[in-house]
Order: sequence, then structure tokens, then C-alpha cells
Amino acid sequence: MRNSCTFLASSLSIVIFLLLIPGDGCVRIIGGNTVTPHSRPYMVLINLNKRNICAGALIAKDWVLTAAHCVLDKSSKVILGAHSITKNEPEKQMMSLKKQIPYPCFDPDTHEGDLKLLQLNKKATINKNVAILDLPKSGEDVEPGTACQVAGWGKTSNKSPKSDILKEVNITIIDRKICNDGQHYNFNPVIGLNMICAGSLKGGKDSCNGDSGSPLLCKGFFRGITAFGLKDKCGDPRGPGVYTLLSKKHLNWIINTMKEAA
Ligand SMILES: *[C@@H]1O[C@H](CO)[C@@H](O)[C@H](O)[C@H]1NC(C)=O
Repeated sequence: MRNSCTFLASSLSIVIFLLLIPGDGCVRIIGGNTVTPHSRPYMVLINLNKRNICAGALIAKDWVLTAAHCVLDKSSKVILGAHSITKNEPEKQMMSLKKQIPYPCFDPDTHEGDLKLLQLNKKATINKNVAILDLPKSGEDVEPGTACQVAGWGKTSNKSPKSDILKEVNITIIDRKICNDGQHYNFNPVIGLNMICAGSLKGGKDSCNGDSGSPLLCKGFFRGITAFGLKDKCGDPRGPGVYTLLSKKHLNWIINTMKEAA
């Protein structure tokens, strides 16, 4: 495991050395709609600290999948069944963290492997407001043009604060070749096979700061995790949202890590 990480890291660093100036570290709903309250019962709100939030998906009664760049501390709160961030909602289940396990090969410079497991201090009560999102059975790639959705409490414009209520946007998968070309990321960073781009070629539909860690669903299946975009340019057609793909490699790590900790 370690060796393969090191090998990967060193071959990637050559690529980076040649091509890259690392992009923005944090991600980043633009152009979306308000979600019917509690209609996305797998959505998890993560209050990292007083100011910053991330999102995640409940994948087992006591496990949440989010992005590795979402860093929790002792004061962080994991909230299931939320619609509003600030309101006292009876549907909310407040959890705290037992353990956070980032993907061991996460590289904040290249954004490779931006996923993390959170083990909760107790098991969630499953009901119509709090439910598990199934992981996909296979880690297949998603065809360009596929219709997907992403939700979150993140910024609704580059200048606005985060949204108090959950919002959602319809986006489509953008071909990696297009996403890496000179009109888009221009290999800075490289959008690799374990990442996927989604948005609108015209722009205006995107995830944004605060949506990090949120699940990307395509045709109803869980396919990715909100990772990053162009800094301060959410919704810009030159920098569609980039998602960590639930590839075979990532799925194997998720399943094995949960087994080992059980
Ligand atoms: C988003 O997509 C869903 C399913 O593909 C569709 O039912 C819905 O009307 C779309 N919403 C918007 C605002 O386009």
C-alpha cells in the first residue's frame, strides 16, 4: 500500500513538476433550486468550525463519506437529517466524530484521492429523514453527457455567503479531454481517471465553496464526491466542478477500511 502510494506520488510529482502550478485547495450550488425538505435523507451537514462547512453522504449507520480536504477537529459537528443549517429541526440527529480516515494517497496539490471516511460516535436512527446512500456496485467511469445532480449548503454565488437551506443543481458529465484542454483546466491540475468533471459547458451550474464532500448522483447512482473547482470562479465555464470518482480503487479502500474498523 505504502509503496504503491510512494510510487504513484513520485510519478505524479514529475508530471506536476513539468506541467503544474497547483490549483486551489478547497472546493467548492450555483444555478440550482431549493430541495424539498428532507427529500435527500442521505445528505450530511458537517460544521467543520464556526465558519466553514462541508457536506457528506451517510453510507452506513455510523459512517459518512466526504472529501479529504474537509478537516474536522474536536469541535466539529456532524448533522444528519438537516434542511436548514441554523434552525432547530426535529429531524436533525447530531453526531460527533469517533475517527476521521482520509484516503492515504490524498494529495492536496494534485487533488488526487480527495475522499475521507468519518466514523461516527453512534449509529444513526434510520427513518424517512435519515437514510443510507448505497455505494455503487462497480467503480465504472461515467459517460460524458450523463445527467447528474449535486446538492449542498454552499455558496449560491461567488460573492454570497453559504446557503442556510439545502440546494441542488442538475449538471452533466463533461468529457475529460474537454476538461483538460486549453480552454478549461489545461492540465493544471490534471483531471485523471479517478476524477470526473461535471457542470454545464455554458457555465452557470456548479457546486461551490461549502459543497465539498457532497455526493454526486448520476441517473440516481452515487458516483462521485465534490472536490474542487476554479478558485472564486464557481459556475465559470472554464472551470467546471471536479469530483472524486468512486472508481474501483476508491471503492475497495472504502469497503476495506470500514471492515477493518468494525
Ligand atoms: C433536474 O433533473 C431531474 C431528473 O433528471 C428533472 O426531473 C428535473 O426537472 C430537473 N430540474 C431542473 C430544474 O432542471
